[in-house]
Amino acid sequence: MKRIGILTSGGDAPGMNAAIRAAVRTATANGMEVFGILRGYTGLIEDTLIPMDEMSVTGIAGKGGTILRTARCLEMLEKPGQEKAASTLRRHNIEGLIVIGGDGSFTGAKTLAENYGIAAVGIPGTIDNDLAYTDYTLGFDTAVNTCVEAIGKLRDTMESHERISVVEVMGRHCGDIALYAGIATGAEATVVPEAPYDLNAIAERIKASRARGKHSGIVIVAEGVMSGEAFAKQLQPLLPYDVRATNLGHIQRGGTPTMADRVLGARLGNRAAELLKEGVQNRAVGIHKNAIIDMDIFEAVSMKKQFDGALLSMLQTISL
Ligand code: F6P
Repeated sequence: MKRIGILTSGGDAPGMNAAIRAAVRTATANGMEVFGILRGYTGLIEDTLIPMDEMSVTGIAGKGGTILRTARCLEMLEKPGQEKAASTLRRHNIEGLIVIGGDGSFTGAKTLAENYGIAAVGIPGTIDNDLAYTDYTLGFDTAVNTCVEAIGKLRDTMESHERISVVEVMGRHCGDIALYAGIATGAEATVVPEAPYDLNAIAERIKASRARGKHSGIVIVAEGVMSGEAFAKQLQPLLPYDVRATNLGHIQRGGTPTMADRVLGARLGNRAAELLKEGVQNRAVGIHKNAIIDMDIFEAVSMKKQFDGALLSMLQTISL
């Protein structure tokens, strides 16, 4: 393969730049030409391509966001958009495409592979950690660390005012951000979409923790359950303490990537470019037991994520 393209699509995630850098440098080191596609599939449809070389990615590993910018492209769901995207690639003689994004982005790559013969490799880039075939997605670690820092700040003020904080975190339908943030911050309760919850039991747990001598409470609610505001409204009548809601929102998607996300991005970007060089097509790269793996992109998209119920039950045992 002589010429490849690379794009980021869907919600941005810290670590995407580290992946772009590694993919571009691995590709150029192996004699391939690289084009960056701006604004995800929208850029592919509108033909906004830029040539990239090893120096176009200098100094980006520690930067949040994505230098290629991103978009949620509805046109890519329909045939005319898909045709335009494929014809841009053909016009530029691009034979392979690296797509960094979540499941929607992988579906776009799958369509280009299946219907238009473009060799695609997917890199899991989303803070949600909602892709079943990989232990971790790029950006998850940074997003959880951002939550942990913000919840620490909330804990300070809740403690001073002896209040209860309901904190809404992202994750779409997946509760992993809430679960990991709950464990790391010692939240008194963590509510995820994958498991049922009992509002009265949460209120009783908070009262019991106050009786034990605690002066504040943190309840983490994954956005897939309901908004933090709505949850706080339901909880307030059950408690004799002030309940406040905070939505951490898009700060979870920004910021300097952690070491873990930079290293993961580098490893995934490197492997994706190597696969295209080797002529291996239509794969999704990921990490399993700390080894970089790849599997059929069609299979990767169709796998159903298993929630770690054991981790949730451990959290419930250790949070009082
Ligand atoms: O998929 C990443 C994510 O941040 C989700 O956690 C969230 O539900 C969604 O994107 C928000 O998307 P947008 O920024 O388009 O509102």
